[in-house]
Amino acid sequence: MNLPDFFEQDRLAVDAALGRLLPAQTTEPISIHTAMRYSVFAGGKRIRPILCLETARIFEPDIQPDASHAMHAACAIEFIHTYSLIHDDLPALDNDDLRRGKPTCHKQFGEAIAILAGDGLLTLAFQIIGESPTSAERTLAALQEVSSAAGTVKGMVGGQVADLESEGKRVEPQTLEYIHRSKTAALIRASVSTGAISAGAGIADVARLRKFGETIGWAFQVTDDILDVEESSAALGKTAGKDIAQQKATYPAVFGVAQSHEIAAKLAKDAIAQLDSFGERASRLRALAEFLVHRRA
Ligand code: FPP
Ligand code: MG
Repeated sequence: MNLPDFFEQDRLAVDAALGRLLPAQTTEPISIHTAMRYSVFAGGKRIRPILCLETARIFEPDIQPDASHAMHAACAIEFIHTYSLIHDDLPALDNDDLRRGKPTCHKQFGEAIAILAGDGLLTLAFQIIGESPTSAERTLAALQEVSSAAGTVKGMVGGQVADLESEGKRVEPQTLEYIHRSKTAALIRASVSTGAISAGAGIADVARLRKFGETIGWAFQVTDDILDVEESSAALGKTAGKDIAQQKATYPAVFGVAQSHEIAAKLAKDAIAQLDSFGERASRLRALAEFLVHRRA
């Protein structure tokens, strides 16, 4: 399933900005820039950057995405997301050969370059936020949102560790919640909150949108778990059925598929309720939230 048509323009603008902000393939060392560009342009849906831009539009409807602070945050987060996929696929982690229908970064370029391409993307993300065309205050706030979301304390790396250490074990629902909120929802929350901050939202609105982002991000990972069970490798562009094979802590494993669908729907409803006070201004963000739990890939 593709994103609804009206997000196509966002996606094209994001792709163009990603291309500008990444070092050219001809920049030395060529090998790593080739690998970084390969994974960034392997066909991701660009959900996180689009969430960032659409959140900014609530406060700044005429935003020129090309040159905006929101676009810098959006691209930085896509770089972090891409690094996390490259490292997640490594033999020491999930050991996967296929991502977005293509050979994974280490399959294409070798493990050493894949590790370094991930490191390069993570570092570039913070450089790009630091170089945002905005005030020092907004830049600092964006750095705080993104670094905490990517880190070890209730952030992506912490969630990944808990995910790894839960393999093959019977996990409690609280542990499962911790994994999903940290591993996936935190970065999605930062996509939304940096969009709001970049467009000058007030403290109360940023807090509401953080809640929206975290809850829809949680629903997104529950849906990802469901798709791993329900869809084929061809549809997903990655190896389907791996969660069961690796005895991963997932919602279907703990609650079953039917109840997992109910949980995802309930989380999406709770997330969307956070947008009530924005009325029509949040209609595109609502549509995006619906897409995130109804997607098939
Ligand atoms: C798919 O996103 C990705 C997830 C559901 C997140 C899973 C979390 C990790 C792999 C964390 C790994 C962390 C470390 C530190 C290695 P998507 O459907 O948006 O993918 P797309 O960009 O291909 O569309
Ligand atoms: Mg994984």
